[in-house]
Amino acid sequence: MNRTKSLIQIALMSTLIVILGLMPPLPLGFIPVPIVLQNLGIMLAAILLGAKKGSLAILIFLILGLFLPVFTGGGTTLVVFAGPTAGYVVGWLLMPLALAGLRRLLLFSHPLISFALVWLSGVLLVDVIGAIYLAHYTNAPLLPSLLSNLVFIPGDSIKAAIATIIGTKYRKQLGLE
Ligand code: BTN
Repeated sequence: MNRTKSLIQIALMSTLIVILGLMPPLPLGFIPVPIVLQNLGIMLAAILLGAKKGSLAILIFLILGLFLPVFTGGGTTLVVFAGPTAGYVVGWLLMPLALAGLRRLLLFSHPLISFALVWLSGVLLVDVIGAIYLAHYTNAPLLPSLLSNLVFIPGDSIKAAIATIIGTKYRKQLGLE
């Protein structure tokens, strides 16, 4: 029963990530990486499902993407991994583990601390890995790449806040606390 419940949770989360990818990308012009809503789904997977199930949900999304255009704007996994945004997607895969690791260091829980941990793992980590890979991909120096990624911080911080609020509300119901 628990196994079935977990499988349903994972499948629903992969589906949610796909659905959020239907939201059109917001191209920025000065950087070949758009603003997307799909990373909200990644944050929710990490917060609501934890390290193992969250990683599995993201992995299933990536496997689906081998056959279907599940990424924002209609990209498939192989196309995305061959393009400028591959680093962010690697960051997406690492987020559930990073968040779970940070949570272990936590001595007490407070909504602001929960937000900080989601921000560190889902915004800072993802955007830094993305920026490092982007610099490598475009053969550009690292610092301008890191600086250009600052454009994502306000939107990603809002997504992290929304994900934290939803997570705080529903983690207990999902039996994660
Ligand atoms: C893709 O579909 O090719 C992946 C897009 C990655 C976009 C990254 S995720 C972190 C940052 N925040 C955004 O809104 N966009 C970038």
